[in-house]
Parts: sequence; structure tokens; C-alpha cells
Amino acid sequence: MRYTTINSILFKKNRAKLVKKMAEKSIAIFHSNDLMPKNADQVMPFVQNSDLFYFSGIDQEETALILIKEPGEIKELLFIKETSDLIKVWEGNKLTLNEAQDISGIKNVFWNKEFKKMVNKAVLNTSTIYLNSNEHPRANIVVESRDARFKTWIQSKFPNKRYKKATNLVYSIRSQKEAEEIKLINKACEITHLGVKRVLKYLRPGVFEYEIEAEIIHEFLMNKSSGFAYEPIIASGANACILHYNDNNMICKNGDVVLMDFGAEYANYSSDLTRCFPVNGRFSKRQKNVYNAVLRVMKLAIKMLKPGITLSSYENGVGELMEKELLDLGLITKKDIKNGWQGGPAYKKYYMHGTSHHLGLDVHDVSDPQDVLTEGMVFTCEPGIYIPEEELGIRLENDIVIGKLNNIDLMKDIPIEAEEIEDLLNI
Ligand code: GLY
Ligand code: MN
Ligand code: MN
Repeated sequence: MRYTTINSILFKKNRAKLVKKMAEKSIAIFHSNDLMPKNADQVMPFVQNSDLFYFSGIDQEETALILIKEPGEIKELLFIKETSDLIKVWEGNKLTLNEAQDISGIKNVFWNKEFKKMVNKAVLNTSTIYLNSNEHPRANIVVESRDARFKTWIQSKFPNKRYKKATNLVYSIRSQKEAEEIKLINKACEITHLGVKRVLKYLRPGVFEYEIEAEIIHEFLMNKSSGFAYEPIIASGANACILHYNDNNMICKNGDVVLMDFGAEYANYSSDLTRCFPVNGRFSKRQKNVYNAVLRVMKLAIKMLKPGITLSSYENGVGELMEKELLDLGLITKKDIKNGWQGGPAYKKYYMHGTSHHLGLDVHDVSDPQDVLTEGMVFTCEPGIYIPEEELGIRLENDIVIGKLNNIDLMKDIPIEAEEIEDLLNI
């Protein structure tokens, strides 16, 4: 593991929150992700299932967790891939039973060969079985997961049990971060800051977008990040208007602004930042006007993220701020506002995405969409204005912890004022 060990108290607390919500006489079962095949005998880098990690801290493939809620008794069973001195020679260090106990805080850890036998036993006294699945509203699942394969098996073996989606309980728990989790997200943000510092020293006309990406990943890996929390967007000029651009293969030209959306991952937790820098070190007047319009919206939007509000009312409020800025920039008229754009509000022509999403183990972290904002949730705030006809796209993005009275901006130290960025680019 590249990161400092996480105290197992976090995973114990996470499990306790879930068990409290589970029905009497029920069990919940979670699986790791698979090692995804590449070509020939190769596999993709391993990415742990976020729910399994959240409840166990185990960062290894072929892992399963069973939580059993019986009258007056809670049982926790963890299953890991068997290791031995011979396996170690070929596959390197895999967790021993004792190591898995220490990481997870679970006493009962077994090799996987015990799993099905223990499932059969656990199911005997159970009425309800919670099964895990990816229920993110934008998930596009084309590959059957370990959880899905297990679902097919258990439902055919025990067809008369009551099955429920674990995520109905898990997502609202995961959206409420513990202090330990906020520390880990903050660490990811600090590493992202180091990446920004490196770009400030490196940027000049003529560099390729991928060279900027290379500078950032160097800084990340040197600082114990496992890498990018998501595919980085390094988009100069008109590329910044392609929201999911990540070819990152063009030259940053004199006069362009380069939009950089990147974040380090640390201990499986994500950070998510966007900054826009003038490639030659100075914004043009127009570029600065658009930049400052986005920055004003961002500063007000961060204040609007408050306990008790819904994300949809917040998004409407940010839309109103954006509408005014677009009017002042001459991009839309009062008539456009009256007529709307493609059946929606006029501002959507230049600001077509949402302002905030949950952040945590996943960059677009899970939540229960019915929940209002509460203290301890972590959101991004990322307004933008995209003007393809001017080959200019500006987005600014920071990561915000919702506080009872005041929010904490985990990226408040990362330069964002236009003049400060110009000064730093010209040192
Ligand atoms: N980088 C992904 C996002 O900002 O949502
Ligand atoms: Mn982003
Ligand atoms: Mn984001």
C-alpha cells in the first residue's frame, strides 16, 4: 500500500452504521471488483469496489464481506484470496489472515474456499438478504460484476428469501463523511495542489497538453498518490468547450487559455479540481472578463451550499447567477432569457452541466438523491462558461466540506484569482 494505514475504527464505524439500518434477521454481502482483463495475459490496474472498501478497508481482489444481523448478535465475516509462500513468489505480497484482521477490524477472516459454506449457514436464519450493485444514476454497466454473478447464484439457490438492494441503505451513509475521510480527501487535495504548482512553473506556449499531464502525474506519484482520480482533462483553446475532452494531444498556443481538470487519488479517496491558465502568462481582457464572471458565480455558489437545501434548488439558484453574468458578457439577451434555449433556460447554451456533485471514494460519489444537504457532506463546486465561437472555455472547481455554519474549502490555498495566477506564471 502506498498510503499510510487507515485506522480500522473508520471501517468499524461504517459497518455499524449499515447494520443499524438493516432489518432484523438479515444479512448483507459485498464483493470486491474483478481484476479486469486487458489483452493476452494482461490485466488492467486493479480498482477496488468502493462499497467493499468502505466497509472493510481491504484493497485486494477476490474479497467478500458478510454482515449478519441476528437477534442480539452481529457477526462480521471477511473472506480473502488464499496466499502462501509459493503464491507470494508469483503474485507478490497478498494479505495474510492476520493482516486482513488488522486492516478491517474484523476478527473472523477466512480464505475464500470457506465462502459458500458460510453463506449457506448464514442464510438459514435469515429473512432478508441485501445484495450490492452499482446504482449510480449514470452508471453504464456492460460487464457483469462479482456482485452480479453472486446475485445470480444465491437467488437460484435460495429463491424464497426476500432480496433487497444494499445501496438503498449504503448510499446515504456514504454521502455523510467521517472526519477521517475528510482528512484523506484533504490529503488528496494537497497532492493536487502540488500538481498545480508544477504546472505554474512549466506552462508556456508550445507545450503539448500531454506534457502538462506528464508533469502532474510525476508530482502525484512522487507524493504517494495512486494516480489520477479520473482521466485528466488538459484542454487548450477550443478543446475546453468539449466537456469530456481527454485526448490531451494538442499544442497549447500563444493566446490560448488551457482548462485543466485533474485530481489526485489518495488512499482510494478522490480530489477534483479545475483551473484555467493563460498559456502565455496573461489573460486577454475578454478572457479575464469571462474568467472573473465564473469566479464570482463560484464564490456565491459555495456560500449557497448549506445544510437543509436540496441540490436541485441550489442548481436553480446558480443558474440565476449565471444568467446575469452571461447577460453582462453579452452572450445572451433578455429576449433569449424569455425564449429559453432548446426547451430549457437560456444560460444552458453556455453552461450546460451541473454545478456540484458529491465527492469521496468516487469522484462522482454516491448519495441518496432524496437527501437534503447535511453537515459533513463533501461537494465540488464547478461553474463554467463555454464559448466555442471564441475558442474559450472557463471552468473553476474546488472541493467543499459542508459545515453547520461555514463551509470548508479544501482547495482554498490553490491559486484562483486571475491576477495571482498571472503573477505566478510570470515568476
Ligand atoms: N472531473 C470530473 C468532474 O469535474 O466532474
Ligand atoms: Mn473536475
Ligand atoms: Mn467535478
